[in-house]
Formats: sequence, structure tokens, C-alpha cells
Amino acid sequence: MTMQVFLNGQFVPEERAVVSVFDRGFLYGDGLFEGIRVSNGAPLRWAQHLARLQRGAAFLKIKIPFTPSELQNFAAQLLAQNNLRDAMLRVTLTRGIGARGYSPKGAEQPTVVMSLHPAPVVEPQKPPRWKLITATARVSANDPLTQFKTCNKLSHVLARAEADAAQADEALLLNSTGNIAEATSANVFCIKSGVVCTPGVAEGALPGITRGDVLEVCRKLGAPVAEEKISPAQLLAADGAFLTLSSWGIVEIAAVDGRELKSSPLLETLRAGFAKLPPG
Ligand SMILES: Cc1ncc(COP(=O)(O)O)c(C=O)c1O
Repeated sequence: MTMQVFLNGQFVPEERAVVSVFDRGFLYGDGLFEGIRVSNGAPLRWAQHLARLQRGAAFLKIKIPFTPSELQNFAAQLLAQNNLRDAMLRVTLTRGIGARGYSPKGAEQPTVVMSLHPAPVVEPQKPPRWKLITATARVSANDPLTQFKTCNKLSHVLARAEADAAQADEALLLNSTGNIAEATSANVFCIKSGVVCTPGVAEGALPGITRGDVLEVCRKLGAPVAEEKISPAQLLAADGAFLTLSSWGIVEIAAVDGRELKSSPLLETLRAGFAKLPPG
């Protein structure tokens, strides 16, 4: 069955869902995206994903041509037209077409695309455990752009290719100071003596929506949290470590570069708390 795709206010079959070769998203990665889990017919954490997209758009000075509720209605229509209840929804926003050159002057009709993709099947009885490698590609610490899901994630692309070549499930990205920033599609957490630690956003971590959920679960449980620098050695020595991402939720880190990590019982508590969060 041909997928329907949302393109600038219209629903079109995927083969007709094409944008201009002069679109600045294509030319310069001048845009943003979101990856949203859809479960039981509804996009999860819609408001948080839209808020991150809006923050990114404000930073890049791209005017989103639809309101969040218009986009939400379009997303619901897209799910209905494709008859899907569980999927990954990708929202892409670019600055659209402009004159040749970096200047965004005159590019005033942003491109908006929404498309649906298969979602991973997470079996609660068989929670995922991933093997990671440490990528050679790095991200900059203290770079404001890392806070947004820009269409400009080439370090992440290279790191993911390294993971694929090593038959690993994911890659850890270090920042320019040698500490952990994040994984290519996930935030990194570790547990140290009962404290749930994750790199702060200034370390080059995307403020992940699932990261936010886990921090909220910790607050609800009264588990101490530290947003701090984490070195690769500290991660290896931790009592347990995990990744957070919208598509999979919480994923335990089984090993990094072939070195097995410990498994903390606190992870189960966090997983249970995460599962109990309201779906909204
Ligand atoms: C670079 C990066 N970091 C972290 C994440 C996790 O963020 P979220 O929980 O919002 O999916 C993602 C998600 O794809 C990502 O692309």
C-alpha cells in the first residue's frame, strides 16, 4: 500500500512527496525535525516535541507556517489515512527555497513534511539491552546548536555508520572535552551509588523528551539526580547505565567497546515508573 505523506498542507502519495532541489534543508541542512512515537493511534508527548521544534525554529528564525494544533490535526489525519496506530511520526521543517548562498534572506516559505515509519516493537518481558561502541566522531561542548534537532547531524551520521560497521546497536558520542555527550539517537544515563546521572545539555546532549520523562520519574520517586560531566571511565565503572529515546523508551547499556557494564536494580524501578507516566 502506498503511504500518504503530509507536505505543506496536503496529503500526497509518497512518490509525489518531493521537495525542490533548491530547498535549504537539502542544500545546507537548514531545518529541524522531530521523531515522535505513535502508540494506540496517538502521538506520545506531542506538546513536548512541538515545544522543542518551536524552540529550534525560534533559534533558527524559521516561522512555522501552522499552529501546533493545526499540525496535531494533520498528524491525526495522516495516521487515519494510512490506517496506522503504532508508528514513528517524523516531522520535518526546513527554511524552504532561497537564493543561492548561505544568506537566508528571502527564504520565507518553510517546508513542512510529516511522514510515518515502522516503530520498534518493545516486548515488556524482553527489555532491550544494547552493545555500544565509542565513536571517533565528536560533538562540540557548549555549542547551542546541539540543543536542537537540526537537520545537520553529520557527526551522528558518521558515528552511526561506525556502529553499523562494528555490528553494534548504537554509538556513544564524546564531546570536544572527552566527556560523554549522548548516543547518536539517544541520551545517556548512568547510576552511581543510587544517584541517576546524565550529561547536562551544555555537554552536547540534546534535551531529549524521554530524558525529561526519566528525570520526572526520578523526581516522583525521590531518586537523586545529577546533571553532570560523565567521563567514559565513569560510565564503565557505574552501577548501571541506560539510554533514553522516543522510539524505544529506556534501553539498558549492556556493554561499551566490548566491556560489559553492571546492571543496577534501580533501572527496573525507573522502567516501571516510566511505564506508569500518563500517555499524553
Ligand atoms: C541526537 C539525539 N539525541 C537524543 C535523542 C533522544 O531524544 P528523544 O527522547 O526526544 O527521542 C535523539 C532522538 O532521536 C537524538 O536524535
